[in-house]
Amino acid sequence: MLYSLIKPLLFTLTPETAHELTLSVARLSPTIGRLSGTEISDRLAIKVGSNLWKSPIGLAAGLDKNAEALPFFALQGFGALECGTITLRPQLGNPRPRLFRYPSEQSLRNAMGFPNEGLLHIAPRLETFNKSFPIGANLGKNKESTPEESIEELSVMMATLEDDVDYFAINVSSPNTPGLRALQEKSYLTELFSELKSCCKKDLFLKIAPDLEEKKVIELTELATEFKLNGLIATNTTIMPERGVGGVSGVLLKERARKIRKLILDQQAPLELIGVGGISNFQDVKDFWMDGGKAVQLYTAYVYQGPDLLKNINREMLKFLDKNKLKNLTDFFAIDLKDRQYILNQPA
Ligand SMILES: Cc1cc2nc3c(=O)[nH]c(=O)nc-3n(C[C@H](O)[C@H](O)[C@H](O)COP(=O)(O)O)c2cc1C
Repeated sequence: MLYSLIKPLLFTLTPETAHELTLSVARLSPTIGRLSGTEISDRLAIKVGSNLWKSPIGLAAGLDKNAEALPFFALQGFGALECGTITLRPQLGNPRPRLFRYPSEQSLRNAMGFPNEGLLHIAPRLETFNKSFPIGANLGKNKESTPEESIEELSVMMATLEDDVDYFAINVSSPNTPGLRALQEKSYLTELFSELKSCCKKDLFLKIAPDLEEKKVIELTELATEFKLNGLIATNTTIMPERGVGGVSGVLLKERARKIRKLILDQQAPLELIGVGGISNFQDVKDFWMDGGKAVQLYTAYVYQGPDLLKNINREMLKFLDKNKLKNLTDFFAIDLKDRQYILNQPA
């Protein structure tokens, strides 16, 4: 409601100015998060990896890169929050303009390049944040670092943050850091996982791109399984050179991301898959459940729909449980996939 009044004004500003303004308000006044947000019923809690999310709808990385407004987002109705991408040293990112809207397609394109305040500024915020709210730190390499240096950087960041977050997501899939996506190569990841798995006390996820070939997705799923990662996050933004530089998110990404997610789920690997990319309503969540998935994240749809998006999806999930006489979502996910699909196929 509040957002529908503010949005036309915000959308007169450049996308990045609107984003900065929103974040400043969110940082200074978490109470607005409560007023505009929604409470989450205990019935929606589910286990993701070894953590209990308050609901299957998480905030994707990139919106709160510096973990500056976590108390606000925790009151919006998300079931978990992922901050970052955080790099070891602060960096400015790419020159502006680097964020673009496609309102009629409910999509965004960004070429941010990991602007963030760096580990030392961000770590104290994570240290003081509510320990009972599930939180992930999305980590990446500094722009100028070599692949070898990046392994050291990621290890240092994980060691610093491990008491203050519930999971780590390693981001090798942003299109906006030159050479980053090449780090999805098996040789690099083998070295990376060997190092990180030996020192990581918390859940470890790898976030992948939607622009990978099928055999590459299968290879990454196998590698993640071999190294006993907790899971994959699929997907990051997609490249659409005809639109310009950077990565596209939102509705324009939906089909491509779903295809990648389905491919991963079809492997039936003992991995969690956090589904992200174009999720914009309860039907998208149900589509992911239909494919065998559980928890999702979103970003772009929240920019376009505001907190009502979470209110609506959370309400729809409760209606779904009631209609099917299910006590909670944990019970739903305990059912065999075939039976779950049968339930999902029933008319609403
Ligand atoms: C402006 C913007 C900045 C982003 N920054 C990051 C980032 O720093 N790290 C990351 O892993 N993903 C980042 N993402 C990608 C999102 O986390 C998500 O994977 C992607 O937008 C697809 O989800 P959506 O369609 O719900 O937006 C960013 C997305 C947007 C739109």
